[in-house]
Amino acid sequence: MPIQINPLSPSMGAEIIGADFSKPVSDEDFTAILQAFYDYQIIAIRDQHLSPADQIAFSRRFGALEDQLNARYILPEQPEILVLSNDVKPDGSPVGLIDAGDFWHTDSSHRPLPSMATILYSLKNPNEGGDTGFANMYAAWEVLPADMKQLLEGRRAVQAVSKFKNKRVAASERRPDAQEKYTEQLAIPDALHPAVRTHPVTGRKALYVSQRFTIGLEGMTEEEADPVLDFLFEHQTRPEFVYYHRWHDNDLVMWDNRCVIHRATGGYTYPDVRLMHRTVIAGDTPF
Ligand code: OGA
Ligand code: MN
Repeated sequence: MPIQINPLSPSMGAEIIGADFSKPVSDEDFTAILQAFYDYQIIAIRDQHLSPADQIAFSRRFGALEDQLNARYILPEQPEILVLSNDVKPDGSPVGLIDAGDFWHTDSSHRPLPSMATILYSLKNPNEGGDTGFANMYAAWEVLPADMKQLLEGRRAVQAVSKFKNKRVAASERRPDAQEKYTEQLAIPDALHPAVRTHPVTGRKALYVSQRFTIGLEGMTEEEADPVLDFLFEHQTRPEFVYYHRWHDNDLVMWDNRCVIHRATGGYTYPDVRLMHRTVIAGDTPF
């Protein structure tokens, strides 16, 4: 049976049916899946039954893996995998990171080399909530007014990791170590990346700012940049660019951080458990 590729929404995303990454996947199927990733920006490979080693092997087919930024919730035997969960151990300690990605962002845009792609493997979904929102940054760029495009072309945006540098976001109340962590991160230098980047494979342009990490625009004062950023953050999440992924158990979802922003929507409460295994493909310098 050949694999099936079905679009998930008018804006982007495709589900892939009939692949099994617990076994070797033919080059032909892999090429079709890679093409779907470029065409649809997000792929949801359904019904996978993967050990951590299987997920790492799958991920490595796309490139080198990025170190997980949060060392506290990695798997001890497989440090390439970060656990996202609201579950708790018998002693009351958290099983995983509880609040990954609560504001719109693209992964690691605050680092000199931002992530190429992120892969989430869904082991358990809550009965309610837990959807992930995605927005298409090719589409957001394409329909920007000409004067806005002109202002952004060739200009870099300032990307900061600490939430304490960003007046548009708030620290999650659910994270016990938030104060300490965001204070510590104040010392990490901001990254500067093009506000509009060119995808190295498709050649298409994508808006590359986000509410979570972008705090300024190079060559502009805060007073000048603020109305532009406010406009862009509103614009980039217009409903026609957005797709909300409602997870199935055993979905293996991979998105392209070079042309998609995303966010966790929450909406679930323990003991309704969500459990994900996360791997990240390293990227290169945005241009
Ligand atoms: C991430 C992320 C969102 C989610 O893993 O990078 O932002 O819905 N996750 O878990
Ligand atoms: Mn994220």
